Amino acid sequence: MMSINVSLLLFVVLFSLVSSSVRGSVTYDDRAIVINGKRRILISGSIHYPRSTPEMWPDLIQKAKDGGLDVIETYVFWNGHEPSPGKFNFEGRYDVVKFIKLVQQAGLYLNLRIGPYICAEWNFGGFPVWLKYVPGMEFRADNQPFKVAMQGFVEKIVNMMKSENLFEPQGGPIIMAQIENEYGPVEWEIGAPGKPYAKWVAEMAVGLDTGVPWIMCKQEDAPDPVIDTCNGFYCENFKPNKPYKPKMWTEVWTAWYTKFGGPVSRRPAEDMAFAVARFIQNNGSFFNYYMYHGGTNFGRTTAGRFIATSYDYDAPLDEYGLLNEPKYGHLRDLHNAIKLSEPALVSSYAKVTWLGKNQEAHVYSSKSGVCAAFLSNYDPAFSVKVTFQNMQYDLPPWSISILPDCRTAVYNTARISSQCSQMKMTPIGGGLSWESYTEETPSADDSDTLSTSGLWEQINVTRDSSDYLWYMTDVSIASDEGFLKNEKEPLLTVMSAGHALHVFINGQLSEPFMEDWKTQS
Ligand SMILES: *[C@@H]1O[C@H](CO)[C@@H](O)[C@H](O)[C@H]1NC(C)=O
Ligand SMILES: *[C@@H]1O[C@H](CO)[C@@H](O)[C@H](O)[C@H]1NC(C)=O
Repeated sequence: MMSINVSLLLFVVLFSLVSSSVRGSVTYDDRAIVINGKRRILISGSIHYPRSTPEMWPDLIQKAKDGGLDVIETYVFWNGHEPSPGKFNFEGRYDVVKFIKLVQQAGLYLNLRIGPYICAEWNFGGFPVWLKYVPGMEFRADNQPFKVAMQGFVEKIVNMMKSENLFEPQGGPIIMAQIENEYGPVEWEIGAPGKPYAKWVAEMAVGLDTGVPWIMCKQEDAPDPVIDTCNGFYCENFKPNKPYKPKMWTEVWTAWYTKFGGPVSRRPAEDMAFAVARFIQNNGSFFNYYMYHGGTNFGRTTAGRFIATSYDYDAPLDEYGLLNEPKYGHLRDLHNAIKLSEPALVSSYAKVTWLGKNQEAHVYSSKSGVCAAFLSNYDPAFSVKVTFQNMQYDLPPWSISILPDCRTAVYNTARISSQCSQMKMTPIGGGLSWESYTEETPSADDSDTLSTSGLWEQINVTRDSSDYLWYMTDVSIASDEGFLKNEKEPLLTVMSAGHALHVFINGQLSEPFMEDWKTQS
């Protein structure tokens, strides 16, 4: 009995020694992100936790995994987490830790884009409205009150992740994090004053010692060791700012957001696959779909002029989490082809040869004998036959074939083999419940009315607790007014109607003249 106990104990001790020596690490080199000593080609997709419900999360994450993703990306939504100063909310749709743990349970990695300015068609770009009224506040600038507030929030999130052991070196799923968001174009516009802020941001983030790389998207001057990354419809020609950083694409736009009254944006699966294959054939090693599941802007979380509550984005998973075919399946097949090519991709660089006027071969081959090739036809109108290593291949217009062994074309970006959606919506009997609100029309006697001459700064007054601000005025017209003698109707002209304007004359709702409305709103 004793001896068995001792050997068990020994075994336990040895095992823990071994497991601590293979503790995770995430670094990078010029070719790729390196996880536990291995270069990886990483396939990622954006799912923003507050744009779906916690009940949907496990299914969305599983579908992302089945679709061939390695990584889930999410922003962190400051105004959802700190609706008033020091009062935090990490519950329900804002339970970011739960979301990340579900990603971990599914065996996927996570890219945490903290921002905390995130833009994202999200109210105030993620900033809490109260922040604007902190004395001396100047957003996204080398400004002490802003830097104190930003650092406070970023530290809070990083410490929360550390205490839950969620960074990869702690055994968690987070392999990288983002600070700021598309600040480069702002800096370009404002010039010199933006430089010290961008530098401070990077130093502050790196100083938090997360053990994983930091990225800054659209930030050409991202200071070392922060990696600058590309966002766009196409990114094949992007080059990071240093030769020792990997080529990463943080936002592959799957379409665009929807505005009230505007078209619903679509991007064909074939063109998406083409854009991604073109990026990978040009030494790209990380790409992230923006969005993989767009979801819904619940409540008043949407922002930007007239942006709708649906954030579907023509993503591979639609607003409700259903498969958006053929996009979902066509991209899953692309991911399989890329994964088959991964051993060659991570052990060499692309070598390019011309196969014709508008046709190229990008070949990855290493001394160890692995080889993968991408055969591309950039001609938008004509199919071509090309010869590559003594074999013939048909390339449809505007397409790329992937040959994970340099011989067999397992995938072409223009040939869809997955099914189209046969979605049929059926109403569910009695399952829906609706709520409606009747807003009371205010009156001048209400205790919270204020009087002023001119318009208020809306957010200053409402503190964004409502989208509405009622203005009341009265105009008395005496029966002997001069203009009445000309038998003309009095005309009320309002120069700005915002999103909505109701006019009451003698207490009766009166329809405004719509033509003015259009040109002025
Ligand atoms: C890929 O990277 C290698 C090494 O930096 C470079 O020589 C080659 O031109 C690159 N190829 C493409 C297509 O970007
Ligand atoms: C905001 O409102 C306060 C009064 O509540 C006023 O004193 C201040 O001038 C307003 N600021 C702006 C920018 O409108």
